Amino acid sequence: MCGIVAYVGYRPALPVLLAGLRRLEYRGYDSAGVALVRPGWIERHRVAGPLDGLVRATRRVDASATTGIGHTRWATHGAPTVENAHPHIDCHGTWAVLHTGIIETHEALRARLRRRGHRFRSQTDTEVIAHLLEDAPSQDPPKAVAWATARLEGSFSLEIVSARDPGRVVAVRLGSPLVVGLGVGEQFIASDVPALLPFTRRVVYLEDAEQCEVTADGIRLERAGRRRRMRIETLRVGETEAERSGYPHFMLKEIHEQPEAVAAALQGRIDLARAQVRLTEKGYGRIDPRRVRRVVAIGCGTALHAALVAKRSIEGLARVPVDVVAASEFRYGEPVLGPGTVVLAISQSGETADTLAGVRLARASRRPVLAIVNVPGSALTREADAVLPMRAGLEIGVASTKAYTSQLVMALLLALDWGRQRGTLSPSAARALLKGLVSLPGALRRTLGLSGTIRRAAQRFAKGHHGNFMFVGRGYNFATAFEGALKLKEITYRHAEGYGAGEMKHGPLALVDARLPVVAVAVRDTVRAKIASNIEEIRARGGNLLVVGTEGDHALARRAGVFFGIPDLPEPLTPVVAVVPLQLFAYHLAVALGRDVDRPRNLAKSVTVE
Ligand code: F6R
Repeated sequence: MCGIVAYVGYRPALPVLLAGLRRLEYRGYDSAGVALVRPGWIERHRVAGPLDGLVRATRRVDASATTGIGHTRWATHGAPTVENAHPHIDCHGTWAVLHTGIIETHEALRARLRRRGHRFRSQTDTEVIAHLLEDAPSQDPPKAVAWATARLEGSFSLEIVSARDPGRVVAVRLGSPLVVGLGVGEQFIASDVPALLPFTRRVVYLEDAEQCEVTADGIRLERAGRRRRMRIETLRVGETEAERSGYPHFMLKEIHEQPEAVAAALQGRIDLARAQVRLTEKGYGRIDPRRVRRVVAIGCGTALHAALVAKRSIEGLARVPVDVVAASEFRYGEPVLGPGTVVLAISQSGETADTLAGVRLARASRRPVLAIVNVPGSALTREADAVLPMRAGLEIGVASTKAYTSQLVMALLLALDWGRQRGTLSPSAARALLKGLVSLPGALRRTLGLSGTIRRAAQRFAKGHHGNFMFVGRGYNFATAFEGALKLKEITYRHAEGYGAGEMKHGPLALVDARLPVVAVAVRDTVRAKIASNIEEIRARGGNLLVVGTEGDHALARRAGVFFGIPDLPEPLTPVVAVVPLQLFAYHLAVALGRDVDRPRNLAKSVTVE
């Protein structure tokens, strides 16, 4: 949340900062700002609203400054106004600070600084840092920043410049991600790698509680006053991965990338001859599935829905009981993590604050953490005992799509592997599922071919001015209903709820009338007959039915107002494909309603604050 960039080097800083911020807009788009360091003073430009305003406001700025910091904001403290836009400065305009995350102790600090005569101009928690720096006993940037950071509590990352030292940026990571990009005679810092891609592939990920000092000539990393040797990593990301490549939105691009993302997740991990899965990544082999007595799966939002599907596949194939808990509840609960419990953490970004807090809780209880994670180098990849990388590539759309289907595939690989090792899955059953997995990219491509039909249906529903939608599913596709509803509400701003279809009679059926669109996921599986009855009950009350079913299921197609058929697949694999029509429906409805799909209101990607 909040995108931050910094540049120090020989080029004009402003275009570098704007290019970086453009690629971080998915992390926040409430307001934007930059600070350019001039000899002896700091020039600030800030606007309320998205980055385009900042680009216009800085069109005529003198481009000679070669050091600067930039920010695109997702508001936490203070409305998205110009006064609250970052960077923030101290009373004399010597220090400029920007930050992502939360300073929990800001109120007490603000009161104390006010008593000492500091004048505040914003409602943000960030501004206290600029005033603290002004009071630091040493005004040497690295020393002053270390002094100020020691007085802050919360979870955040900072970028700071001083007018007294124009060729230097100091950054701190305490809970929120930061990555330094290395150039020749220039360096970059950003909250996320897309900002660095036009400039460099050589990066250093900051560790937690680390301070970094960056000049044109190099970087210096320190933790608790001790220098750390840097580990340079090379990003294996194509530059166009961070671009829309002809698609009108990142979300649509990523929906269409699902066949490739799933193929990448499967690459080298399937051994059909032995009916086995090959998972060799960090720490995985150290968890013996025969000794696992229980799994607690945690995640947030879409990743939580992936955890619900993982429960079905791990219980069904490996016969290990799985509890699913929202990470935000798990971290403040009193979970019983007895012997033999493995905590399975699922996250696209690997930086979600609640999921990381859950991981730390599990580790403090000495229970192994196995992570299904997408972003390489993220905090989760470092903190988990074992990691299953999803390899979905960059996901920039705020509404998660390809990460979800890749998470489901990784959970299936895990369930299959454990099932084989625990002896709960026969070689022939495993082989049938493995063959099904291999066929998934093709099934996804075929389903994406429904895009035109789904667009036309969504356009009709947009004209119907429906304020509420209901999604129902059962069995392996129970959570598909929740995910379809989440996609719809986050990008169309229409109310949508997901329910287990078998739960309808216990209350939600009262909502059904001819105005209510009900989207049912009813593929050919072991509960097909059950959900067909639930569909009848909805039809009998006049419900406006859209059904995602299996191709050729004419009986069901006849009963639905709208029918989207997906290829026939082994039951545990159906959620991977059944969600795609729901993603497309939400997308096309949002477009038809004129929504800003890649910048849904009030949201941003990577929830690094509580
Ligand atoms: C919804 C969405 C969010 C994320 C959630 C967890 O489309 O993207 O609900 O799934 O914030 O994010 P990660 O997976 O990065 O932990």
